[in-house]
Amino acid sequence: MSLRHLLSISDLSPADIQRLYERTRALKEKLPSPTLQGKSIALVFEKPSLRTRVSFEVGMAQLGGYAVYLAPGDIRMGTREPVSDVAQNLSRWVDGIVARVFRHETAVELAQHSSVPVINALTDREHPCQALADLYTLLERFGSLPGRKLAFVGDGNNVCHSLLLVCARLGVHLSVATPEGYRPDAGIFEVARQTASADSRIEWVHDPAEAVRNADAVYTDVWVSMGQEEEREGKLRAFQGFQVNESLLSFARKGAAVMHCLPARRGEEISASALDGPQSVALDQAENRMHVQKGILSLMLEP
Ligand code: CP
Ligand code: NVA
Repeated sequence: MSLRHLLSISDLSPADIQRLYERTRALKEKLPSPTLQGKSIALVFEKPSLRTRVSFEVGMAQLGGYAVYLAPGDIRMGTREPVSDVAQNLSRWVDGIVARVFRHETAVELAQHSSVPVINALTDREHPCQALADLYTLLERFGSLPGRKLAFVGDGNNVCHSLLLVCARLGVHLSVATPEGYRPDAGIFEVARQTASADSRIEWVHDPAEAVRNADAVYTDVWVSMGQEEEREGKLRAFQGFQVNESLLSFARKGAAVMHCLPARRGEEISASALDGPQSVALDQAENRMHVQKGILSLMLEP
């Protein structure tokens, strides 16, 4: 994988993802050898995190390397000093920058001024590490991906965007159902459609039941993303009828996987019984974040 930065799923070819999944499988099978000994990464986080922080820190330690966590407020990028200065300084000490930032443009600017790889750990536009772990989870479950149907029911933002792009590349049929005002970004949706491989079908529908019909897996994400707290009341109204619950899952294939990137709000985007029930693979997705990210780190940082 001759990848300089991982800001978007669009940075990866289907062959890159194939290679990443082969590496991930090998890394998951046994505790890896310390191939990143002496290497370090900085985690620059403007928003809270449980999964992303722990999976990158522990993953890096398992590879023999070291991660420095910079909490929201620690460096106050853009306020205390410009993004370009942060990128240039960090590049003198660490071998990679993992960035969770509000604006996608901040991640792009970090990459422009960094001489080390920058990995997107969630922006307002994409969450590529999440989507890569999600499709790896489905690959483990089904053995192969082409022709499988995933339904995404919820807000058409960062997680949905990365799922659109990765499903297009991996031959998965993705049916997205959102309220009218919360469709995925038109540009990203079009790119997904245009890059869709022969087995992939990318579609948007308004009706959640239509999206979920015959799906092999049903995915949702919070209705109120980090940073959107003031939109809460309006969003709760707009998303009525879009909850993933037993009644919606009855349209899916029997035993369909229930997916959530977490954190979840039980009783809002998903019922407690769906998230905590036997069909849920949310914790497998969370575990696979670490294995896939070890794959990413080893492919991008190994000498
Ligand atoms: N799914 C995910 O990115 O979780 P965190 O926000 O806890 O990192
Ligand atoms: N869409 C959510 C994803 C959290 C992992 C958010 O941006 O908060």
